[in-house]
Amino acid sequence: MQCAINGGVLELVQGNIVDQAVDAVVNAANPSLLGGGGVDGAIHRAAGPQLLAKCATLGGCRTGEAKLTPGYRLPARAVIHTVGPVYKDGQHGEAELLARAYQSSLALASQHGLARLALPSISTGVYGYPLAEAAHIALSTVVSYLQTHPEIALVRFVLWGSDSFATYCRVLAELCPGT
Ligand code: APR
Repeated sequence: MQCAINGGVLELVQGNIVDQAVDAVVNAANPSLLGGGGVDGAIHRAAGPQLLAKCATLGGCRTGEAKLTPGYRLPARAVIHTVGPVYKDGQHGEAELLARAYQSSLALASQHGLARLALPSISTGVYGYPLAEAAHIALSTVVSYLQTHPEIALVRFVLWGSDSFATYCRVLAELCPGT
């Protein structure tokens, strides 16, 4: 599914983020930046040990912020590591922190001329964010960013599993009529 915005494309696909041949993939990391499971584990396995060695020099990453490394053995040139919020009850600033994780990742891409990006559904796995709410925050944040940042050519959400993909498609259809 695709949505054209201000000369850029917001795209939804079902698949594995490590397979994406783009300028940068976004990693759903934890504050240590020293790897984990889910997206984080898959990216570190595919990128190889140099990624962990590089991450170990970065001093971690605060929730809602983002840091950049090369992609090493990944088809993607670079990895933007960001940390989403752990979902508690929606009353602890989770929505703002999730939006900020996407905004920080996009801003870092703009700063470094990374025009084609692949993103996961941040915080909706181990961190427990309710999928539909997270999808709405993710997609509305990216739509808003693309509207004022023509330097970003492609934002591809890579969804793991049919439920995630269907939910993101339903939310994008609401945000981008005529898709
Ligand atoms: N490609 C795309 N999406 C994936 C992949 C993959 N290879 N693996 C998992 N996902 C999906 C999950 O199904 C979920 O919808 O990505 C979404 C995010 O899940 P997590 O990777 O668990 O990330 P998150 O919920 O942000 O939790 C981050 O998990 O792996 C640890 O070190 C990480 O502590 C951090 C925490």
